[in-house]
Amino acid sequence: MTKLLYLEASPRKEHSYSSRVARAFLDAYKNVNPEHEIEHFPLFDVELPPFAAEGANQKMAAIMDMMQGGSGIEEAGEWAGVMQEIRRLESADKVLLSSPIWNYSLPYRLKHWIDLVVQVGTTVKVNEKFEYIGQVTGRPLQMIIASGSPYEDRFPLETDGTKTDFMRSYVDHIFRFIGFTDIRTLRVMPTGIPGPDTEAMVERCEAQAREAAANF
Ligand SMILES: Cc1cc2nc3c(=O)[nH]c(=O)nc-3n(C[C@H](O)[C@H](O)[C@H](O)COP(=O)(O)O)c2cc1C
Repeated sequence: MTKLLYLEASPRKEHSYSSRVARAFLDAYKNVNPEHEIEHFPLFDVELPPFAAEGANQKMAAIMDMMQGGSGIEEAGEWAGVMQEIRRLESADKVLLSSPIWNYSLPYRLKHWIDLVVQVGTTVKVNEKFEYIGQVTGRPLQMIIASGSPYEDRFPLETDGTKTDFMRSYVDHIFRFIGFTDIRTLRVMPTGIPGPDTEAMVERCEAQAREAAANF
């Protein structure tokens, strides 16, 4: 069965603009694809497996093993959690990510998830020319990003001053690193000043989300 994995990276529930637009996306998606499975993975509510000293050492051991032609390391301790989250990602045919920008970057729970699933040797292989080849291919990613301020949809420039968005470019980059090529972005911004303008902007985003879902 076709499966969509929904990563929700705002903890703000009904107050969250990114989650609200994601709900519009999902409602429309379910209408078009009633038989598809949707796995909701709210990153601030689920217990993400720990990734600390043991996991970092296992990561380096896995890379060494792969460089020596091995087939990977034992699935024990923190590495078992890593493999559990990689399997969850690999089981999805499509990924929806809704997230805020926090301090010009991503919320720490989303970074925690990234540190689990981005593993050279598993989700990324290295070829004989030492090029990285992402392994999680053939899946579209829809990002829905909410921010208090407006940002340009590009890599940060040195001239951006104190309002610099490192979030979208980083998350886009890391998903490309593990193999995604079809990455779609919907921005919900600026959410900083609540009022009728913000409400109208969010409603426009919901309409865009419904349209995006119909083609996802
Ligand atoms: C901890 C924190 C840091 C934030 N940092 C930024 C920021 O760097 N840039 C920005 O435009 N908005 C920032 N904001 C505002 C949020 O991006 C904005 O409220 C957005 O709507 C949050 O997404 P959500 O509504 O889905 O939770 C921050 C909010 C919080 C709670």
